[in-house]
Amino acid sequence: MIFNRSKSETLLDNAELDMERIPEHVAMIMDGNGRWAKKRNMPRVAGHQQGMEVVKTVAKAAAQRGVKVLTLYAFSTENWKRPEDEVGFLMKLPGRFFDTFIPEIKANNIRVEIIGEIDGVPADTKRVVLNAVEQTADNTGMILNFALNYGSRAEIVDGIKEMALAVQQGELAIDDITEATVSEHLMTAQLGALADPDLLIRTGGEQRLSNFLMWQSAYSEFIFMDTLWPDLTADIFDETLLTFQQRNRRFGGLAENNSDKK
Ligand code: FPP
Repeated sequence: MIFNRSKSETLLDNAELDMERIPEHVAMIMDGNGRWAKKRNMPRVAGHQQGMEVVKTVAKAAAQRGVKVLTLYAFSTENWKRPEDEVGFLMKLPGRFFDTFIPEIKANNIRVEIIGEIDGVPADTKRVVLNAVEQTADNTGMILNFALNYGSRAEIVDGIKEMALAVQQGELAIDDITEATVSEHLMTAQLGALADPDLLIRTGGEQRLSNFLMWQSAYSEFIFMDTLWPDLTADIFDETLLTFQQRNRRFGGLAENNSDKK
């Protein structure tokens, strides 16, 4: 569904968030930075800069609401096709982000994690990102999981290769390959039981997955909203949590109190 919101009336005016039913893993496709900048006659990178500020707002809001994992699609394997100066700017963003936000990350007990081909990003970017992972490794609160140089198809291909190698080396029997085995060979395996997002949000009006967490989102609730990423606020984030709570997740079964249940 497209999630439209008028300024005068918000979902939160009429209902309260149930703190017992906060989605554990929220994944977000942060789209609309370029359009946000264009509307203001600014260069596209100004949208990315503002988008980075919004990452801080959303990370704090999610941590305060009790979300356990927040996965953000920061750079896809397809984003290399963008103009060189835009790619260069996007690769510098993690440095700017951690330079200014590490104290708050620590104050909020947030742990930084990464999924994606980290060896494929410039050495400086890799260094700052791994440094943030290392500096926050002992934090026990929300995991802020950046998908950087990430692509779901590439992730699945790599997982298949790992499993094929294990079969070839006699460490894995074909009959023992289950859905759990596949999950264990994906980059999200480091998230353990929290690997699959409960809620997947895309800003910016498009309604597609763009090679993001395809295996992991099999049973996710999807919210597509017109709001451009740099316009997102903590209140709008709360509204998405409320929309999630108003959905009826059945995982292919019947609703718990469904009278037709046999
Ligand atoms: C898509 O918008 C957005 C991106 C490709 C980059 C997203 C990155 C951020 C929001 C900042 C990341 C922050 C850190 C800390 C790494 P778009 O440019 O495709 O927007 P458009 O569809 O309006 O052109």
